[in-house]
Amino acid sequence: MDLILHNGEFIREEDLVISREDRGYQFGDGIYEVIRVYDGNLFTAKEHIDRFYDSADKIKIVIPYTKDVFHKMIYDFVEVNNIETGQVYVQITRGAAERQHQFPTQATPVIIGNTKSVERPIASLNSGVTAKFIEDIRWLRCDIKSLNLLGNVLAKQEAYEEGFFEAILHRGETVTEGCSSNMYGIKNGTLYTHPANNLILNGITRRVILELCEELEIPVEERPFTKTEALEMDEFIMSSTTTEVMPVVAIGDHKIGQGVPGELTRKLQTAFEARIQVGVKS
Ligand code: PDD
Repeated sequence: MDLILHNGEFIREEDLVISREDRGYQFGDGIYEVIRVYDGNLFTAKEHIDRFYDSADKIKIVIPYTKDVFHKMIYDFVEVNNIETGQVYVQITRGAAERQHQFPTQATPVIIGNTKSVERPIASLNSGVTAKFIEDIRWLRCDIKSLNLLGNVLAKQEAYEEGFFEAILHRGETVTEGCSSNMYGIKNGTLYTHPANNLILNGITRRVILELCEELEIPVEERPFTKTEALEMDEFIMSSTTTEVMPVVAIGDHKIGQGVPGELTRKLQTAFEARIQVGVKS
């Protein structure tokens, strides 16, 4: 049975004790990361760990390890659980204390994590998925990978109930990102995506995609685009650690382009796969 991570130790699930007053439960007062494992290797681990520390810093939680120690811990965690293709989830909360909104004076941050084996979503990557527009009702610090995910959860549920894979969130007319992904449109050979500011999470996959665009000489404009522009894109993509470079072939009942994954999307997928296969042990 897989071991879980608890404050630097690998323990059995049944041995985990978490306080009912953990601020993660009471306030969503914490942050998290999801890191992909391909062929036993952590993918873009450094970038995820940097973002984990950045998110913690933004909400004033101090992680009690250096980045190097934490990186090794995650690496050992994947190894001890024999994960070949899968993912690691890790979160840190401000810790347990009697419920009051302001930070407790004495609370020790609590880190927990788990690993699981999960295959790449090959069928969807080949066929593409559909998405629907939903108003973005989240807070104004979406750059923090916060445990507070109610706005994301409610939108995802609405999309899911209507048979869509993802919601394309928008503030007024402006498309921001997905519930658990970033969004891109391609028009006349240029890739458009919302700038990495407080209204989106700057995805690690997003950063890889922008690097790949440079390599492939696909021009990029990091600027907000509207719902109307989204519908008129030649190609549309969503991306995340778990969904990689995922073609979006329809928004609502409106087909994007021919309603099949486009040429530049395929090029980006191929280039992304090459990155995965480099398999640098990190
Ligand atoms: N979600 N935007 C949001 C709101 C996200 O939650 C995520 C990732 C992304 C993509 O980020 P990345 O490429 O670093 O995975 C963008 C993770 C996978 C999750 O919550 O499960």
